Amino acid sequence: MARLDVTETFKGICFPGHLHTQESLRYATEFKFQDTDTLIVTYPKSGTTWMQEIVTLISCKGDPAKSQMQPNWTRAPWIEQYYCSDVLKAAQGPRLLSTHLPYKLLAPALQRSKAKVIYVARNPKDVIVSYYHFHKMANFLKDPGTFTEFLSTFQEGTVYYGSWFDHVKEWTSNARNIDNFLYITYEEMWEDLRSSLEKVSRFLQCPLMEDELSSAQKSCSFSTMKENSMVNYTLVPQEIMDHSKGKFMRKGQIGDWVNTFSTEQSRNFDISYASKMADSVLTFVWETK
Ligand code: A3P
Repeated sequence: MARLDVTETFKGICFPGHLHTQESLRYATEFKFQDTDTLIVTYPKSGTTWMQEIVTLISCKGDPAKSQMQPNWTRAPWIEQYYCSDVLKAAQGPRLLSTHLPYKLLAPALQRSKAKVIYVARNPKDVIVSYYHFHKMANFLKDPGTFTEFLSTFQEGTVYYGSWFDHVKEWTSNARNIDNFLYITYEEMWEDLRSSLEKVSRFLQCPLMEDELSSAQKSCSFSTMKENSMVNYTLVPQEIMDHSKGKFMRKGQIGDWVNTFSTEQSRNFDISYASKMADSVLTFVWETK
């Protein structure tokens, strides 16, 4: 099947042209945030869809109806993707938004807002493996080549959406410049989903009763989301995502990178990680294990 991998370059960063235009990227950088907005920020493959489901379920008090009826890309649109403005015109109530943009591109727009920002980070080694498999199935992304080739492109920061290292460092070190900011990791959500739901619901000032929390927890488990066509991307046509080449809800594990990285690749990555992240303000959970 022919790939639809047109690339759009904006401010030195590559974006999939299938979803982004110069106009849509400009629209995002000049986005008019409202104080009632919730913005989920992630580097790709870090748990975006999971957090979209978590916030949807919390705002619905654990009722899964909305998450079973509306695709995630219309209930939590990415502000940089071309269809966002149309989706928001039709939206009612407080808005749930998503973005993969680096901090520097959104800082001016966010400065004027009290929007709630949730930043989800994930062990980069798991991100790389997830991203690599996603490139294989997503026809709108470049062919990733071998894992070794993809690993080196990722480390150079020339993959779509730019450098993981810059993304994570810039968002976390600028948290103090954002009025309402929550930092959470994929690993934390994976280790204790219930406490993570409570943490997000406190941040959103949307407390849940015990039974509402249990219902939310069930609906955003990997096994439930894997079967939910509103989040597992099976609604996306085969020519855009080749479902015979893999599943969007692939493994949903932590530390699974060990099954793909060789010992040497892991060692080299650790060396490059240490130098690139030396000026980070945070110690990340995957660094301490
Ligand atoms: P894997 O490819 O490692 O399985 P994003 O939504 O940012 O693109 O991230 C996708 C990754 O999150 C995929 O990782 C996917 O399986 C995982 N994921 C999505 N929902 C999940 C859940 N409920 N529990 C655990 N992992 C989940």
